[in-house]
Amino acid sequence: MNVRHSRERAWSLLLFGKGTVGGHVLSLLASESERLRAEGVDLRLVGLVDRRGAVVAASLDPRTAREAVRIRGEKLEVAPLLDRVRAVAGPDGVIAIDCTASREMTPIYREAFDRGLHVVTANKHPLVHPFAEYAALIAGARSSGTSLRYETTVGAALPVIGTLRDLVRTGDVILQIEGSLSGTLGFLADEVSRGVPLSIAVRDAHQRGYSEPHPRDDLSGHDVGRKALILAREIGMMIEPGDVTIEPFVPTELLAEHDARRFLEKLAQHDGSFEARIARLRSRGRALRYLATIAPTAVRAGPVEVPVDHPAARLHGTTAMIAIYSRRYADTPLIVQGPGAGGAVTAAGVLADVLAIARESSPARFCTN
Ligand SMILES: NC(=O)c1ccc[n+]([C@@H]2O[C@H](COP(=O)([O-])OP(=O)(O)OC[C@H]3O[C@@H](n4cnc5c(N)ncnc54)[C@H](OP(=O)(O)O)[C@@H]3O)[C@@H](O)[C@H]2O)c1
Repeated sequence: MNVRHSRERAWSLLLFGKGTVGGHVLSLLASESERLRAEGVDLRLVGLVDRRGAVVAASLDPRTAREAVRIRGEKLEVAPLLDRVRAVAGPDGVIAIDCTASREMTPIYREAFDRGLHVVTANKHPLVHPFAEYAALIAGARSSGTSLRYETTVGAALPVIGTLRDLVRTGDVILQIEGSLSGTLGFLADEVSRGVPLSIAVRDAHQRGYSEPHPRDDLSGHDVGRKALILAREIGMMIEPGDVTIEPFVPTELLAEHDARRFLEKLAQHDGSFEARIARLRSRGRALRYLATIAPTAVRAGPVEVPVDHPAARLHGTTAMIAIYSRRYADTPLIVQGPGAGGAVTAAGVLADVLAIARESSPARFCTN
């Protein structure tokens, strides 16, 4: 039997962001494009955008694109940028890839959908607006026949969104989702549970590059809250950002400290009470974890005391875990577990979303005769 590639389509890519994740996406395009082309998927980088400007060309070398945007990047409004990308893409399908952490990408997605561009995003912000805006965004993609894929917004490249979607589509009913969704908070919970003072563990996380520049941004729990909201909406909950209850990992009053150095100093004052809490938990055979819980009645993110046989109690380091309890998986949850952060794995997840769009949008790509 011969397998031949038929009506294969080339794909033009417009990348927003060239930081940790975007940089790895560029590296992957450089290393994998030739092999993918041989398999019938022709990916071409036609645009790169950072905060300062954009570079657009019929074919950009992913190896030098960062330098190109630095030297030749020009400030472009959204409409002229997308029009220029459409023009250089010609008959190609176009995929915009959002590897920024910007809160202002939603209008860009809308304009992209209007022009028939697909969107792949690692950025949570466009998915956590008030429900009406979120629903309008999803509807916008649908009505223009384009795709919006965001697998890497929860658990990086771990198959979380796709797994949930498949369960719901095949008639399962999700009863509860529990997840350790922050590499930083997972690391901290594991460290303090093993007796490391909290302020030392936070400094360590910072030095290893796990945490945000200001540790408060992780310890507040807001990022986990955003992921919980995305999961809740994925299973059909029409909830608002304010409906997610978020309890920080540290006492709330600490979060008011804007200066990162003073924050760490103040944190040390809480080491004693944290150690006492951990000792009490240990004596009762329990461990501290920071979990998101999504149930039909409530969505919350916060510190939780779990028994030692809980799936989250076995986690070490920055490993993420999502346990899905459903009608089909009622007694033993379906568990997705593995590295839930990092530029390399996240970029791989972004590329997988790009390839999924290429696959779905090329109906006759593989013909057999
Ligand atoms: N890092 C991870 O492990 C991980 C895992 C899963 C998901 N994510 C998500 O992936 C996204 C990127 O994370 P990152 O770690 O790569 O961040 P990063 O290193 O800070 O890079 C962000 C990039 O976005 C660019 N940028 C910011 N605002 C922009 C705008 N309005 N228009 C165009 N470009 C803009 C920045 O431009 P400049 O170069 O000019 O500063 C930078 O290149 C975030 O939303 C993050 O939550 C990250």
